[in-house]
Amino acid sequence: MRTLIVYSTISGNTKAVCERIYSALNVDKKIIDIKNIAEVNLDEFKNIIIGFWCDKGTMDKDSIKLIKELKDKKIYFLGTLGARPESQHWKDVYENAKKLCSETNDFIDGLLIWGKISQAMMDMMMKFPKGHPHAPTPERIARWKDASTHPDENDFRNAEEFFKKLLND
Ligand SMILES: Cc1cc2nc3c(=O)[nH]c(=O)nc-3n(C[C@H](O)[C@H](O)[C@H](O)COP(=O)(O)O)c2cc1C
Repeated sequence: MRTLIVYSTISGNTKAVCERIYSALNVDKKIIDIKNIAEVNLDEFKNIIIGFWCDKGTMDKDSIKLIKELKDKKIYFLGTLGARPESQHWKDVYENAKKLCSETNDFIDGLLIWGKISQAMMDMMMKFPKGHPHAPTPERIARWKDASTHPDENDFRNAEEFFKKLLND
């Protein structure tokens, strides 16, 4: 029952959380960047943790492509996103990921972790004109600031505990 952690990341949040999960697991395991997934023989793994970054309310495209190619695996996800944990958007992202992970596989459980918005993304959004759906508003700027310290040590520990309970012997 080998375990594979495959992470997709643009600015490093998802990679950082997945590396902490990897270190916490005491099972036969491997971790890989989704960019290098062709190097892995997926037949060797029964348990797969998909580490995704949230893009437009769901899993990023590379993670969706991979999940659709997998069949009859035990699937877990670890997603990072910029929305507030108590928001409806957070719940929607969870449900969207759960649905994708259940289509052709045995979805076991998933965890979302708050992640900072990259400086490049914030710089881009600061230039959006008033009225643009992602234009900077006081609420949005406050949210970016609150997200800016995540994932923090508490988030890392939560992720470690979550996956240790599910996967450690
Ligand atoms: C193009 C783009 C789209 C994003 N869309 C969302 C979104 O719909 N909801 C959300 O909560 N966060 C969104 N984010 C924020 C990222 O999901 C968040 O910063 C994540 O932790 C990035 O992970 P990474 O550092 O592993 O790349 C978006 C970021 C980018 C760059």
